[in-house]
Amino acid sequence: MSPASGAPQRRTLIAGNWKMNGRRADGLALAEDLARRAAGSAAGQLACDLLICPPTTLLIPLGEALAGSPIALGGQDCHWAEKGAHTGDVSAAMLADAGCRFVIVGHSERRADHGETDAAVRDKARAALAAGLTAIICLGEIEAARERGETLAVVEGQLNDSLPEQASAANTVIAYEPVWAIGSGRTPTVEEIARVHGHLRRKLQDRMSDGDRVRILYGGSVKAANAAEILAIDEVDGALIGGASLKADEFWAIAQSCG
Ligand code: PGA
Repeated sequence: MSPASGAPQRRTLIAGNWKMNGRRADGLALAEDLARRAAGSAAGQLACDLLICPPTTLLIPLGEALAGSPIALGGQDCHWAEKGAHTGDVSAAMLADAGCRFVIVGHSERRADHGETDAAVRDKARAALAAGLTAIICLGEIEAARERGETLAVVEGQLNDSLPEQASAANTVIAYEPVWAIGSGRTPTVEEIARVHGHLRRKLQDRMSDGDRVRILYGGSVKAANAAEILAIDEVDGALIGGASLKADEFWAIAQSCG
């Protein structure tokens, strides 16, 4: 959350990453439930930005279901090429065409399952920006690196190599997601999260003229029970949520934690 006086205002972003979960009926029901809650919140004014990143097959029906709602839609990955012979992939322009405003790139599950390197992530982010999307670039250390005390070095290297030169606060969000915390029910301590986010903030400031306005999300076992504490940490500007984003009550409770 943004510190008070004189600090740049960064609107909190609460993003749900549904991963490979949801078919048309349950995905639509969840999105419609959230859209109803958003419409019913005080004068339709949410205290934070809300985003849902469903599987690709659900983008078009969810785009229709969320039309007119303040909840934005995002993809979970895109290819670095504009179009062409890339069987099974989806381009950033296709995501934009389906109603997306965001796309997650470099999630650790993509890095692990598909061997995505920082250079590939940077190219994907560049393609996202070229298509007018905001790229959510994911970083995070594996447990062995954490145990060796290499967390800051790892995330700094990923930031250096995954961020395209066109990145700005208007088109880029960073998500710090320790790999060992994803889906495990374990989270770093408040001090550890603050240390990593503070480090990323300094590196963004060094590199970009508007680095103090880039939102840095935390991800990894965020749920209703720990969201308020995590969102209150300095330089934490929101959350990327997997498992808990699949339950309307949990996701909504997290969204309510942002003040
Ligand atoms: P989790 O996943 O909330 O289920 O830990 C977070 C993520 O992978 O983005």
